[in-house]
Amino acid sequence: MNSGSTPNVPKHVAIIMDGNGRWAKERGLPRTVGHTKGVEAVRRAVEVAGDYGIRYLTLFAFSSENWSRPEAEVSDLLGLLRRFIRRDLAELHKSNVRIKVIGDRENLKGDILPLLIEAEDTTRGNSGLTLIIAFNYGARDELTRAARRLANMVEAGELASQDITEHHLASQLDTFGIPDPDLIIRTSGEERLSNFLLWQAAYAELVFLPGYWPDFGREMFDEALRIFAARDRRFGGLSESTTAVVG
Ligand code: FPP
Repeated sequence: MNSGSTPNVPKHVAIIMDGNGRWAKERGLPRTVGHTKGVEAVRRAVEVAGDYGIRYLTLFAFSSENWSRPEAEVSDLLGLLRRFIRRDLAELHKSNVRIKVIGDRENLKGDILPLLIEAEDTTRGNSGLTLIIAFNYGARDELTRAARRLANMVEAGELASQDITEHHLASQLDTFGIPDPDLIIRTSGEERLSNFLLWQAAYAELVFLPGYWPDFGREMFDEALRIFAARDRRFGGLSESTTAVVG
């Protein structure tokens, strides 16, 4: 539709996909149906992001805290992610999508990690949309792991503690090499970040949509992008209208 350089189209959109359970409950359906419908919304989100020329799309698929849900629901969510990779990888690859996974990879059991790695390896050379799947992800955990690695470097004499800069910390995050999100969308009307990209969200515009995730598609994406385009991003400075020289 257009290129990533189009003014006011964010380069990186990150989404907290919320409301699957409530969507199902309102229809008298089991929560798992909401999650299944949520995967269809994931496909729509990827398609629309590609159409807009958005370069990076991060989806909060499974948080470090989601393990505390009932075992059956955890198993449903993992099953859906597994099926999504198995069924959609070839199509995503054909569409030039590059997949990247963020989150803690240690202690993951079963075939889920090998599948995610396969998705990354298969699509590594692609140059279209980068789809970042946040799996077993929590921002505090990510920051803690980064701090631990920096401490190890200091201990090994590779880095002096007084020389540590923001760049050093950012370089140890799972998102290293990915620009910070310009826009973070959360569906379902909840207005919080819930441990998502806390470092990277420093200057992101936050847009909270009332609709539930299974209803997400072109219309809701358009709405979020319209809200984003109307925002005045100042990054701690002054807005253009404030700095314009009159006369
Ligand atoms: C929030 O709904 C959604 C999740 C916890 C998981 C999102 C996962 C998917 C859409 C499926 C798998 C992902 C991919 C990338 C294929 P909720 O259950 O918290 O809803 P509620 O707040 O209404 O209960």
